[in-house]
Amino acid sequence: MKREEGRTIFVAGGTSGINLGIAEAYAAAGARVAVLSRSPDKVEAAVARLKSLGAAAQGFAADVRDYDAVAAALDVVASDWGLIDVVVSGAAGNFLAPAEKLSANAFKTVIDIDLLGTFNVVRAAHQHLRKPGAAVLNITAPQSWLPTPYQAHACAAKAGIDQLTRTLAMEWGSAGVRVNAIAPGPIADTEGIRRLAPTAAVEKAMLASVPCGRYGNKLDIARAAMWLCSEDASYITGVILPVDGGWSLGGSGAMMAAVSAT
Ligand code: NAP
Ligand code: COA
Repeated sequence: MKREEGRTIFVAGGTSGINLGIAEAYAAAGARVAVLSRSPDKVEAAVARLKSLGAAAQGFAADVRDYDAVAAALDVVASDWGLIDVVVSGAAGNFLAPAEKLSANAFKTVIDIDLLGTFNVVRAAHQHLRKPGAAVLNITAPQSWLPTPYQAHACAAKAGIDQLTRTLAMEWGSAGVRVNAIAPGPIADTEGIRRLAPTAAVEKAMLASVPCGRYGNKLDIARAAMWLCSEDASYITGVILPVDGGWSLGGSGAMMAAVSAT
């Protein structure tokens, strides 16, 4: 029997990059996996990929900013597969922009996708979570505690996600639901890196600022996610876990040097 067999996993923003990597790892380990994102094409491709790994898979084209759409997707998953064991909330948007050139709507857009979207996902999932036993995993970023130039929007949004994580860990702990977050460092071959390290010079500076001397890969995050949401981590809740090769240890200075190479 595979390790995750019989378990149901829901990944918001699970159709590309880091979050798809988490969905794939669960699929390969035997779980039933549902993914949600805006693009119907990305949803279709992700579901095909998860099925090719042998998993029962389904997908939903929806925007995490739309509470009713998110809730409807979770209702279908629960009705088809029963109680949900793991919910990953990882949908996000980011781009580099100096604060004085960021429109109010641009700031709001990132807050709405990252922070309101995470609230929508976990709020709508709550009634369907296995109690006791379920795990919620939010995907944050080192920018949540390290002020980072040109990312006022993402820094504020991810900081909110961290406090939401800790607060829900307190509220839901007694029901046997753990709530944690992972803060990935720079992960190779992702949209995040393409946007935040858009030139060879930034990429070089970014790499030089990682103590482990390499970019992370999607499996680094998926393995940490599966461990944090497993019984092996059953006494861990309310934690913001950096999985970043030590990147955040350098503080804002290292990040600023990398970003300022733009
Ligand atoms: P990505 O491939 O762009 O993943 C974002 C996912 O969210 C996609 O599936 C996207 O699909 C979905 N999404 C975006 N807006 C959405 C919305 N409004 N509603 C529903 N789904 C939405 O980026 P990534 O680089 O792998 O990042 C994944 C997560 O890791 C993010 O939370 C990011 O902040 C975090 N992170 C990444 C890095 C990194 O190095 N890449 C570092 C630190 C933290 P659609 O376009 O179809 O909606
Ligand atoms: N610099 C400054 N402002 C920007 C911008 C940029 N690079 N990209 C978008 N904006 C602004 C827009 O101009 C708009 O503001 P306005 O109405 O005042 O003109 C606002 O942000 C919303 O843009 P819109 O394109 O309507 O948003 P959307 O909801 O369709 O898309 C984004 C959201 C902008 C975050 C888009 O980049 C996205 O979908 N990202 C998902 C993938 C991603 O970012 N992955 C990496 C995760 S780390």
